[in-house]
Amino acid sequence: MTKTDISAADIDTANTDRAADINRAAATTVDPGLSTGEFPDYMLKEIYEQPRVLQDILTGRYDAARQRLVFDEITLTADEIRSLRHICIIACGTSFHAGLIAKDFVERLTDLTVDVQIASEFLFNQRKHRENAMVIAISQSGMTSDTLDAVQMARANGAYVVAITNVMDSTITTLANASLYIQADIEIAVPATKSYTAQLAILTLLALYLGQERGTQRPTEVALFYAELLDSVDKIVRILASQSLAKIEQAAAACAQAENILLLGRGTGTATCKEAALKVKETSYRHAEAFSVLEFVHGPIALIDPGVATPVVALLPADSLDDATRDVLFKAKAYGAKLIVFTEESEQRLVGQVDYQIFLPKATPIQMPFVAIVALQLFARHIACILGCDIDNPRYLSKVVVSH
Ligand code: AGP
Repeated sequence: MTKTDISAADIDTANTDRAADINRAAATTVDPGLSTGEFPDYMLKEIYEQPRVLQDILTGRYDAARQRLVFDEITLTADEIRSLRHICIIACGTSFHAGLIAKDFVERLTDLTVDVQIASEFLFNQRKHRENAMVIAISQSGMTSDTLDAVQMARANGAYVVAITNVMDSTITTLANASLYIQADIEIAVPATKSYTAQLAILTLLALYLGQERGTQRPTEVALFYAELLDSVDKIVRILASQSLAKIEQAAAACAQAENILLLGRGTGTATCKEAALKVKETSYRHAEAFSVLEFVHGPIALIDPGVATPVVALLPADSLDDATRDVLFKAKAYGAKLIVFTEESEQRLVGQVDYQIFLPKATPIQMPFVAIVALQLFARHIACILGCDIDNPRYLSKVVVSH
């Protein structure tokens, strides 16, 4: 596999860039030329920008005449892509959650296995070198120290590193073998929203590209899958204009005073709930934790406090709502939980049995991570609004986490 080795000089240059990053991050202020426009805060504005951002990313990568995705930035030959044996995704925070979903997409669309690691933990990984490994490093800012350290380590161990970032020429792009931009424009609110769905979009396309190059996805399959992805944009538009918005706000109001909010999902839904829990924590300073539905009964269910009707928020598209899942929900209800369930719009099996049922547009397993998180971002933000929190600038947090 052809790789350009990272040299000591590269690392020195990157470290100089990182010092500049630290200064830039410290000096980061909102450009006075930017404004929230008709929105009360940047977080809401950026939530509403998601359809446009996704549309831009998706339309730039597909050659319809040849039914092929194009990733010219990736310098590996088709043979080298076919000889990849392993993918590792590294990132922090919201970007890490995008990585959890990407694992499902890559494993669904290719014959590769993927592991996803928190960047700071990657440094403790005992298995330093893997033959023919690709490391995908995700960072909105391209400046997160933990992710940069992990990238340097991956390169030193001989991996081909693909960086996914929103910031042109950020440090991560100087360290990686290839960089893919998510084209989400500047994201001002500290709670990441549009950068997350943009990361999901590029990761999904990358997964499909790997499938195309490895021969696990034929051109007609690539075309169908691409159309499916494009269709998720319309579904997000529907959420943002739907009658569900009022329901989401009512459910958020019912959670606002709770010290503890528990979220449940299955498959990629669990990863989506982890991201929603992070949004609740950072915007509202409420404890929120996500679990896989069936794992909930192996301990976390004891967190339900009947005295305060602990909110249990479940994300359950039709394929997640089997008897075992319903059993867990009704147990939680019997122990005193307040049940808030996000389901697909035609779902009738829970009507009248939960406290709030919020309908999402019907979506395929590939579309649901895009669709559901938008509803959950709105849910989290509304809790913070009710509590009067500073939504764009939560306490103790900044847009870029750098260390010296
Ligand atoms: C997300 O809402 C957070 N602000 C935070 O978790 C963020 O995603 C994390 O610090 C990683 O940042 P990066 O994507 O810029 O590397």
